Amino acid sequence: MPITQAREISAAKRLENVRYAIRDLACVADEVIQQGHKVLPLNVGDPLNFDFQTPPHIIEAVYKAMRDGKNGYAPSPGIPEALDAIRGEAARKDITTVQDVFVTSGVSETVDLCISALVNPGENILTPKPDYPLYSAVLCKLGIALNAYDLNEDDAWQPELADIERKVTAHTRGIVLINPNNPTGSLCSRQMLEQIAKLARRHNLVVFSDEIYDKLILPDSNGDATPHIAFASVAPDVPCITFGGMSKNYLVPGWRIGWGIVSGDAAAVKSYTEGIHRLLRARLCANHPEQYAIRPALEGPQDHLIEVRRKLRSRRDLTQKWCESTPRVSCVAPRGAFYAFPRIHLPESDIPGGDEVFVKELIRQKHVMVVHGSGFGQKPGTQHFRIVFLPDEKTLASAYAGIADFIRERYEKA
Ligand SMILES: Cc1ncc(COP(=O)(O)O)c(C=O)c1O
Repeated sequence: MPITQAREISAAKRLENVRYAIRDLACVADEVIQQGHKVLPLNVGDPLNFDFQTPPHIIEAVYKAMRDGKNGYAPSPGIPEALDAIRGEAARKDITTVQDVFVTSGVSETVDLCISALVNPGENILTPKPDYPLYSAVLCKLGIALNAYDLNEDDAWQPELADIERKVTAHTRGIVLINPNNPTGSLCSRQMLEQIAKLARRHNLVVFSDEIYDKLILPDSNGDATPHIAFASVAPDVPCITFGGMSKNYLVPGWRIGWGIVSGDAAAVKSYTEGIHRLLRARLCANHPEQYAIRPALEGPQDHLIEVRRKLRSRRDLTQKWCESTPRVSCVAPRGAFYAFPRIHLPESDIPGGDEVFVKELIRQKHVMVVHGSGFGQKPGTQHFRIVFLPDEKTLASAYAGIADFIRERYEKA
């Protein structure tokens, strides 16, 4: 047999900018774990890593589906009873112009399919900065240049309308809203949603409204817990896909169940929706037995949410108090989800290498794992880190003591 020299197989060049900072830090943590330390993971938004449990009735529903032989392929858009339940959920969210719904393997797949079905080479989508990194990863994978608009920290992380206006071009096809937001925990005000709707109408944009955390709304410091407002309820005429799923609200991130709700003018969204269905068919279907949990989840008891929000409120308050009492740290109080995005007030020259070095050293020295702000994008000259405040109060207090010590020992000059 002829011997040929093995040559390196390189990955596609367009992947060079694909980053997922949340998991990329794992190698530093592994180093520390190998040295025999326990790392406090405040980096991954998985409630099942902490004291949260999946509602038993939805586990039963999946178990029953498996026992009943629902283990083959499902219809590509999803099983009829799940689609029906998602339409019911859309109605509860006051979305009145639903044109289509479909089930996917997590919101991650909804994002991928909906963006892939819309953009041509040379076109772009507006994404928030900071953003949940999946959006930029999908755009990189498609070879689409990023077009990020700023969220304004001085205005409770609301989208900066003037920046959006500056960045819309004739080639912009859509805009992503993450509401409640990851990584900032902010909520969009009704007024902001109305302004974005105006802008979308003017520039003929599709709005991708990622509402995966819509049932995890926390009261503000005055106790006001104004319910979440779905973008599509404010702008029934605007082409919109609302992203929702089971991972966070129903505590099953490992099941990989998400969905899209297409709303807007029927004629306007028809051809685009057909494109999405072509991709839905090409990837066969979403996980089948797990789809049998969608109806019991959306229509059954919601008691677990009361407990989840109670825990999150207490942990958010503790996080906020720590940020307010710690020198060189500030934070806009989160109103939804389970993330806080504190700012580090140190001159850039004091953190050589920026906030990525800050978090890596924090893992090595204090064994606390948070994610650097630059992993999500941030305004030049600012530095942040993202905290997942899912752990119990005792664990959080110990992590925050470690971070405060780290800042004092490393950055406070005598
Ligand atoms: C804003 C946002 N969108 C989408 C996802 C992905 O969700 P899924 O588990 O449904 O794929 C996440 C996960 O953390 C998220 O934070």
